Amino acid sequence: MDLLIGTGNPGKLREYRVLLADLPVKLYSLEDVNLNSVDVDEPHDTYEGNAVHKGRVYAQMSGMPTLADDSGLEVDALGGRPGVYSARYAGGGDRDRYTKLLGELEGVPDEKRTARFQCVVALVFPDDRAPISVLGKVEGRIAHQPTEGGAVGFGYDFVFIPEGFDQALSALSMSEKNHLSHRGNAIRAMIPHLQALLKA
Ligand code: IMP
Repeated sequence: MDLLIGTGNPGKLREYRVLLADLPVKLYSLEDVNLNSVDVDEPHDTYEGNAVHKGRVYAQMSGMPTLADDSGLEVDALGGRPGVYSARYAGGGDRDRYTKLLGELEGVPDEKRTARFQCVVALVFPDDRAPISVLGKVEGRIAHQPTEGGAVGFGYDFVFIPEGFDQALSALSMSEKNHLSHRGNAIRAMIPHLQALLKA
């Protein structure tokens, strides 16, 4: 079976490739199907709405079943912000976004810095089959300082310390991150659906 990974984010793509490596599925990136210049918007206010929307655009353009996701970081001290708006929380790049977040949390003590990543992965078909969505989460807290320079981190990984750890996600190995991350959990929840499809 051919499967398109509908993300332009190289960090996410690496995680999909590792997490789906054992399935008898041929994975295609957007670059493989010449869709890497297509930037899909996020018009909804739910992760699921945006994940299905991205998947639908890429599935229709490629003619292939497509996995797409939408994710965000929910910080309790900020009433759940930036949440579904995490990618648009600040202009610029990853560093601008997590620097703004650390600024908003200045003076907030450790016990009030709780947060979680959520991720919805959607499997969307190029025909009229209904999309399948699954949710993954990871609980943790926001660090006081970023941990930069890790090998695999991206986005808010530099400031997110998963529960049970004392280091940011960016300091973990790819396999440690995949083992506990929101996207890892969501993709693992999607695997039985892919296996069912392979048997059909
Ligand atoms: P989106 O799912 O591409 O809309 O991403 C939402 C925002 O959360 C972006 O700023 C991403 O960089 C960030 N993000 C998504 N997944 C992760 C992750 O696994 N680690 C850190 N940041 C992430």
